[in-house]
Amino acid sequence: MSFLSERTKNLGTENAFVVTQEVNDLQRKGRNIISFCIGQPDFDTPNYIKEGAIKAINEGKTGYTVSAGIPELRKAVAKYLSQTRRINISPDSVVIANGAKPFIGYAVLSVTDYGQKHEVLYPNPGFPIYSSQVAAQGAVPVPLNLLERNSYSFDISDLKRKLNKRSRLLILNSPHNPTGRVLNREELEQIAELVLNYDDLWVLSDEVYCKMIHDGEFCSIASIPGMQEKTIIVDGVSKTYAMTGWRIGFASNERLASFFSTWVTNTDSCAGHPNQYAALAALTGPQDMSQMMLRSYVERRNLVFKEMNKIKGVRCLSPAGAFYIWPNVSEACKLVGASDSEDFRKRLLYEAGVAVLSDVHFGTRISGEGEHIRISYATSKENIIEGARRIKEWIEKNK
Ligand SMILES: Cc1ncc(COP(=O)(O)O)c(C=O)c1O
Repeated sequence: MSFLSERTKNLGTENAFVVTQEVNDLQRKGRNIISFCIGQPDFDTPNYIKEGAIKAINEGKTGYTVSAGIPELRKAVAKYLSQTRRINISPDSVVIANGAKPFIGYAVLSVTDYGQKHEVLYPNPGFPIYSSQVAAQGAVPVPLNLLERNSYSFDISDLKRKLNKRSRLLILNSPHNPTGRVLNREELEQIAELVLNYDDLWVLSDEVYCKMIHDGEFCSIASIPGMQEKTIIVDGVSKTYAMTGWRIGFASNERLASFFSTWVTNTDSCAGHPNQYAALAALTGPQDMSQMMLRSYVERRNLVFKEMNKIKGVRCLSPAGAFYIWPNVSEACKLVGASDSEDFRKRLLYEAGVAVLSDVHFGTRISGEGEHIRISYATSKENIIEGARRIKEWIEKNK
């Protein structure tokens, strides 16, 4: 059989897509499933955004664009990032790609060398693509454990211990997938103080949920003095404008922009041309639809938090942002005789018809942290109530 690289055989994945496939298969067989597994808005993309793309298509804007993205969109993104991060970002520092996700790979590729023991620090639990890309690109993954007793914030002493002269990239994600934690300015200042001691170190600040803040305020580490030049801001239109399938994301860093643009040339050539016009319409058009969607997540957060905490054996902290809640189900696992969170997840899907993800989908197990599941509450209130009812009833029946 022809050769297959170790890198490919060991490539990690995002289980939200794997479980969604499982859910779709079950639904096709006629099973009624309440799905809390995929992190995408349940709203349709607003019409004025769709019209932006339709107009572009009708005007023949269907060919390649320059790799960095159409100038109008780079300008609009620079303005949006400058206003929301309260810093000055030039359009030349902005690159557009097919989603925010590619920039995780481009960043690791741009600041680490294969097999040189360059280290990348990232949150654990965290978005699974961070560790997967780091390992695939031959860098060393260094998880920073986020603990329940610290409300899933960074342990600054742990970060201090793990930073060294081989550290090349620190990945931050606030609001955080999967815990919903939002890093405040004081925490970011403490992180920045450590980062500024290391000349070779970059920060990738994954801010795709920056508009989904339920409590407190969003702050980007790029706005801390001295940090803008070291920070790669990553954001996109997927979550804010219900545009996950349009695949438009962007990154900003003055020094790395031209390299990211060359990575785009080497991979996708450019982001989808009409889709860039849709993103332009999203950023420059009326914001009321997006604000309505964002407001709905606060109500859903309140509901899911209340309903989950009512269930015997389940406890959770209230997420301050994004649209995920991270219940501790250690007691519930014991009650139903599940060996761990993954066993719990599978049985919940097949026996109760509720799809969630488990903590093993978000990183390595942390001793003493117990079992967790992730619930995406980007779904209707009816689904939240019915899903919680099924979980409660299933635990009662099986204990
Ligand atoms: C933390 C985080 N970063 C990046 C992404 C990718 O976003 P995009 O759809 O823009 O590629 C996601 C999507 O779920 C995410 O949760």
